[in-house]
Amino acid sequence: MDLERLLSDRLAPAFATVAGTPVDPTVRRSPRADFQSDAALALARRLGRSPRDLAAEVLEHAALDDVCASAEVSGPGFLNLTVADRTLADLVSRLAGDDRLGVPPAAAPETVVVDYSAPNVAKEMHVGHLRSTVIGDAAVRLLDWLGHRVVRVNHLGDWGTPFGMLIEHLTDLGEAEAAHGLSVGDLDSFYKAARAKFDADEVFRERSRRRVVALQGGDESTRRLWRLLVEQSERYFLSVYDLLDVTLTGGDFRGESAYNDLLADVVDDLDRLGLLVPSGGADCAFPAGFTGRSGEPLPLIVRKGDGGYGYPATDLAALRQRTGELAATRLLYVVGLPQQQHFAMVFAVAGAAGWLRPPARAEHLGFGSILGADGRMLRSRTGGSVKLVGLLEEAVARATDLARAKNPDLDAATAAEIGRAVGIGAIKYADLSTDRRRDYVLDWERMLSLDGNTAPYLQYAYSRIRSVFRRAGTAPRPGAPVVLAEPSERALAIELLGFAGVVGKVERSLEFHHLASHLHRLATTFSAFYERCPVLRAPDELRQSRLLLADLTARTLRQGLHLLGIRTLERM
Ligand code: ARG
Repeated sequence: MDLERLLSDRLAPAFATVAGTPVDPTVRRSPRADFQSDAALALARRLGRSPRDLAAEVLEHAALDDVCASAEVSGPGFLNLTVADRTLADLVSRLAGDDRLGVPPAAAPETVVVDYSAPNVAKEMHVGHLRSTVIGDAAVRLLDWLGHRVVRVNHLGDWGTPFGMLIEHLTDLGEAEAAHGLSVGDLDSFYKAARAKFDADEVFRERSRRRVVALQGGDESTRRLWRLLVEQSERYFLSVYDLLDVTLTGGDFRGESAYNDLLADVVDDLDRLGLLVPSGGADCAFPAGFTGRSGEPLPLIVRKGDGGYGYPATDLAALRQRTGELAATRLLYVVGLPQQQHFAMVFAVAGAAGWLRPPARAEHLGFGSILGADGRMLRSRTGGSVKLVGLLEEAVARATDLARAKNPDLDAATAAEIGRAVGIGAIKYADLSTDRRRDYVLDWERMLSLDGNTAPYLQYAYSRIRSVFRRAGTAPRPGAPVVLAEPSERALAIELLGFAGVVGKVERSLEFHHLASHLHRLATTFSAFYERCPVLRAPDELRQSRLLLADLTARTLRQGLHLLGIRTLERM
């Protein structure tokens, strides 16, 4: 049980008695005591009473004696709570014996679909796909650890009119040649060459158009060429996932084309429900509350003028399949913020059609852009878009160099292993440690720095604790009594007890920067403890207790980083 919860549970009945209705005690960490509640302030305003009197009355009714060393009214009417050392020690002992570090499995596990990564066939993944992949992977890891049934969906862009030109370009190049270029990741030049011919050459354009018709009509030889494009691209994307160390596999691809057979049905249903309006030759839904600049209702184009279906129709079909066939109650879409309106409209239409009904709900986990050092959209030196693999390789190379510089005796294999864990970890952590809605600057120096709120700092903190155990030559004695003699020991205990609460919050919000800051605070608190409290040189009982605190810190760091998709190393 985390401390905020414990104190909240003790204060809530007292607040309810005083207020006559339930009140959230809003217990938070505070620099003035261990914890503080400011709920009396708002409540006093509502009741027209003095906040200090009200706070004092709450304290009289609250059963805190067995858990708090002191509880007092302060300032305008805050409640300052200091937890008893005994309580802290008991809770930490219990934590030490718990494989799950105090985090209970979900009381009501649900089926969650996480739609993430979703690059486009025969097109290079860009940094937006990087963010989606990293954030989605963290969501999958966390929800899975909490015991939810998680379905990963890689909504690959594998359908649409560009495939006419892509297939024609493939036949021009020759299959073997094209397959080779794609599988080694030369996607951009493939796409651009096709595009250039399409723009310049009327004959090619006409061939491409006929190809789209053949593809949609199910022509077998065209299908085969299309599959070749998809398979080679998938193979390349899987190599990026491998480098990025994410849990996505080949089995998770479920491209847009997978919904083709459902589209007509989706449109028929919407039509039957009276949700479609013909507009400029197309069939559109006009979900309530979406208007353009001059107040005109905004359409979601479900069937295009030429009878084809596009991106919105596919998302509607996918959503219906997820809540229907997969019986998912939580749908997550990890896609950049520019698509916010698209998803809001899709969710609204699905709601109106009855495909998205409580308890099922959909959330767009939108995110901002990655910026270059100049504060503008990240661009390569030549001004083109940055190739994702290039970015990852640079991170690994830089981290490997840093590892070698720090320890010139490292053998090549170890340096490479450290470089990979640290380089990829740094990229992921830079992403996950900022509020995902915000843009952030890709700053190599900062994200690879060994101090600061970075992956290398946390990875280093972990391996440093492991080295203490190597020197101690022993693991902590199970069940060793916890002694909290020094203030820095107490502070560490409080941080350790906070892990479960943070994980619970992130389960709901999927705001991973809260988990990242918690781990960072834990690591800095540990380092203050380690400076002030000798571990190996302490007398036996204290030594055992401190080893136990150190071990719990390491386990929490490892588990927390693992949830973020970041590896820890025994030595660094
Ligand atoms: N392929 C799309 C893109 O690159 C992202 C797809 C996101 N998922 C979805 N269900 N629409 O922008």
